[in-house]
Amino acid sequence: MQEIIRQLEEKRAAARRGGGQERIEKQHGKGKLTARDRIDLLLDESSFEEWDMFVEHRCTDFGMADQQIPGDGVVTGYGTINGRLVFVFSQDFTVFGGSLSEAHAEKICKIMDQAMKVGAPVIGLNDSGGARIQEGVASLGGYAEVFQRNVLASGVIPQISLIMGPCAGGAVYSPAMTDFIFMVRDSSYMFVTGPDVVKTVTHETVTAEELGGGITHSTKSGVADLAFANDVEALLSLRQFFNYLPANNKEPPPVWPTHDASDRIEPSLDTLIPNDPNTPYDIKEAIYKVADENSFFEIQPDYARNIVIGFIRMGGATIGVVANQPMVLAGCLDISSSIKAGRFVRFCDAFNIPILTLVDVPGFMPGTAQEYGGIIKHGAKLLFAYAEATVPKVTVITRKAYGGAYDVMSSKHLRGDVNFAWPSAEIAVMGPKGAVEIIFRKDIGDANKIAARTEEYRRTFANPFIVGRRGFIDDVIMPRDTRARVCHSFSMLRHKKLDNPWRKHANIPL
Ligand code: HXC
Repeated sequence: MQEIIRQLEEKRAAARRGGGQERIEKQHGKGKLTARDRIDLLLDESSFEEWDMFVEHRCTDFGMADQQIPGDGVVTGYGTINGRLVFVFSQDFTVFGGSLSEAHAEKICKIMDQAMKVGAPVIGLNDSGGARIQEGVASLGGYAEVFQRNVLASGVIPQISLIMGPCAGGAVYSPAMTDFIFMVRDSSYMFVTGPDVVKTVTHETVTAEELGGGITHSTKSGVADLAFANDVEALLSLRQFFNYLPANNKEPPPVWPTHDASDRIEPSLDTLIPNDPNTPYDIKEAIYKVADENSFFEIQPDYARNIVIGFIRMGGATIGVVANQPMVLAGCLDISSSIKAGRFVRFCDAFNIPILTLVDVPGFMPGTAQEYGGIIKHGAKLLFAYAEATVPKVTVITRKAYGGAYDVMSSKHLRGDVNFAWPSAEIAVMGPKGAVEIIFRKDIGDANKIAARTEEYRRTFANPFIVGRRGFIDDVIMPRDTRARVCHSFSMLRHKKLDNPWRKHANIPL
């Protein structure tokens, strides 16, 4: 017995040492924490229950039989974040470069399966050289097992990936199928093929950071939702982010206590909209003022900035917010913003998170780049997402709501539950200038006539009453009352029940 206990302690110590002190120091030298440090920071103190510490790989080729490190390069288990259950895997780069063997994959799959059984989110801390080269095809099978579980868990439990080191080749597709990807700047990267292959095939010279670093993916590709300065910032932000999410698709999102009154009046919103309809303003100001104090967690802040998405709380409950941003491209919808918001709306709908939509949209972005890029299909993604969503949907039109974009942005016609407009709302088929140039084309040479017609069009349509008359909006509200009216609406909608017709799955335009 004593001997077994001694062996147990020895094995535990070996697992905790990972790849050894030298490699740990190398890891620290790169500004990275170890797999276990990361878990300690992410989870509540002493809450981590580790599984499979003694798992070892089964490879005997290339001298691997003599190289056994208990745990095999990934630390797995469960714990809590602010008291709420979460399953975690954390790849250990000090052990065979965090590479994925068959046994390593089995450990990840085991916690994913358990998370599905108990209905708790999974967080993956990725830091890996990819498939364990010595194992060959067994490792590829391991990846596919993880992929399959990512897909089956999608829309059932939230899945979050934090990329904290290399993530290359087919390995990128597991994070890609999770709900959110966070990265660490300068120490993590994601790409399908690395700089050397890129050089050979396309003759481009690019660094790993430029090709697939945190800044690239959070600004250019949109693959990552957020990029952080270092491991600590990333992990602490992830803890905050986690507080917004429900445990699974059957549970409501958590409600946190708030001192911010639901009926708080915000007089400054009355002057947010500039007198000139073409002058931009920052829609984030409206979001901050409508949300519970300090509760806005923005996602993808540096990608497709013409639309703003993120989570807020109202009356302590999580709400997904989608808002056109007049400061960028006048708030037009384009390919990137439609995809960005469409995916977010679907996440909210899958996980019972009500959606607040703030609308100031002059239309879809014109141009060959957009048409050749498939704006028709991509714009339809956002339309599709809103139309299929059955969660409570409250919409506030702050200023422009023109054309197809009016319909798309959670309009009444797409089963918007409560649709408000500010007195500054302009809702029409198109903006005054474009409309007059079409319906009074013969007058185009006469600037005075066109100006008079434009003014007439503006007077007729640039107000909320035309749609109000038809019941397309439920009320015209003073901006100062927005928080109170939206809070009341969501509380009225708390027990909303709406089902879509049965089908195997819908066919969203991909
Ligand atoms: C086995 C690996 C490994 C791997 C790294 N190591 N990657 N062992 N399989 N895939 C080991 C190294 O041998 C080394 O061991 C230790 O991890 C650290 O690696 P270094 O190279 O010293 O670290 P660094 O200089 O930081 O470079 C990191 C790296 C590089 C860029 C990730 O190691 C690398 O290029 N690795 C190979 C990546 C790769 O080609 N993977 C397969 C891709 S294909 P020692 O003992 O010296 O510490 C793939 C397909 C997935 O992943 C398909 C899914 C469908």
